[in-house]
Order: sequence, then structure tokens, then C-alpha cells
Amino acid sequence: MDRSRELASETGRRIAVQVARYRPDRESEPTFQEYEIPLRKDWAVLDGLNHIKDELDGTLSYRWSCRMGICGSCGMTVNGEPKLACATFLTEYAPGPVRVEPLRNFPVVRDLVVDIGDFMQKLSVVQPWIIREDEEPPDGEYLQTPEELADYKQFSMCINCMLCYSACPIYGLNEHFLGPAAIALAQRYNLDSRDEGAADRMEALSSQTGVWDCTYVGECSVACPKGVDPAGAIQRYKLTAATETIKSFLMPRGRR
Ligand code: FES
Repeated sequence: MDRSRELASETGRRIAVQVARYRPDRESEPTFQEYEIPLRKDWAVLDGLNHIKDELDGTLSYRWSCRMGICGSCGMTVNGEPKLACATFLTEYAPGPVRVEPLRNFPVVRDLVVDIGDFMQKLSVVQPWIIREDEEPPDGEYLQTPEELADYKQFSMCINCMLCYSACPIYGLNEHFLGPAAIALAQRYNLDSRDEGAADRMEALSSQTGVWDCTYVGECSVACPKGVDPAGAIQRYKLTAATETIKSFLMPRGRR
């Protein structure tokens, strides 16, 4: 018995998976290829793709690494919604078929692999690391209370999976928008009691293509698999940006 039938016999059920195939250097548009795979209770979409790659078609390309919702590399569009393939179970889509496409709003490199260069560049703009003014690091740790940790902990859960960019209609229309994850990560550091870099991040965040492009559709927070709530982070920073602008107008001219 081939491996595919042997696995299917555990539940006796199978599911059709329609996978987007595209090689932009050779083909003018994507097509769908359908594969029949075993429908096992413990199989995520990623397990299904791994089965296709290992047993049925070794030419399929997609990204993954940790298989446990941590590395953020397996973001894909599953039946029209941005999902982590390793955290989305095939049984949710039974009896099928289930459609797997690359993340929307990103150029396709091949099949389900997208070009993440734009996001990486935006990430570096917001300097997502602790910025300090002291020249020498202290002898011990920078201490922090549990309350201070709670201020930014939610935003620190971001795994850079880019599901929020794929869900965001503003980013879909305007590639210059800084976008949900980059802004949430900026807030992760702005709200950290050990950080002194909020002023350095302000220019990028408070520009038109920063927080002000967001119209609060909120789909980024719906799509986020880690409960980061980037839409909330953006609205919170709008308040900061507006307050800082008012403060700068109230300041005597020579000190602006
Ligand atoms: Fe790492 Fe899915 S493989 S998050």
C-alpha cells in the first residue's frame, strides 16, 4: 500500500487541496493544482503540504521552519484568509476542497513563497531594538517591574509572520504604508521602560505613511495569530503623535 493510502486508512477520509502554483519567471499567471491527501485529525495545512512535497510532488515551494507557531515563516492564504499553515487544521475545512495560496499583498517568488523584502526594510525603519543613551552598559541587568513588563508584553508577541500586512486593505492599496506589525513592534520598544528611543522612531511613525494612513479597518488584529492587536497599537500611537504635535506648537518658537 502506498504511504498516502496507508495514512488515509487511519481515518478512511481524504481531502482535496488546491494549491497555487506560479513561477513568475516562466509563467504569466498563477494556476491551481489539486492534490488528494489523507484527512487526519492531527494534520495542519502544513502537514498536508509536507505530505504533498514528500510523497506526491517534490516541486512545490513554500516556507516553514518551527512547525509550532513561533517562527512566523509559514504564513499563507487558506480559503481566502491569512493563516499560519502550521496552526490551521485541515479538519476545519472538511470535506474540502481547501485552497492554499500565497499571502496577499506581497510579490510571489515561487508557488507559496513571497518576497518579504519590503517588510524587512520597514522593520529596520522603526528600529525594533532597545535604544539607550548611556555609552557603557550597566554592570548588571536593566531592572523592570512586572507592571512595566505588562505595558508592552502584548506587542512583544509579534512573530513577524506578516498575516497582518496580508489582511490590511490599506497596505494592499499603498505599499508605502509602514504597516501594522512594524508599528506594533515600534510600540513594543516605545513602551519599554528600558528604552530611550521613542524620539528616534517618531518621524517614521507620525508621518503620513506611518500611523495616519491607517483607517482602523481592524483586519490586522483579526488575522494576528498571537493576539498582538496591531490596530490597537496604531490607534494608541495616534494619540501620542497628536499630543507631541500639540506640545511642539505650544513650545516657544526658539525651542522647537
Ligand atoms: Fe513556524 Fe508555522 S512553521 S510559525
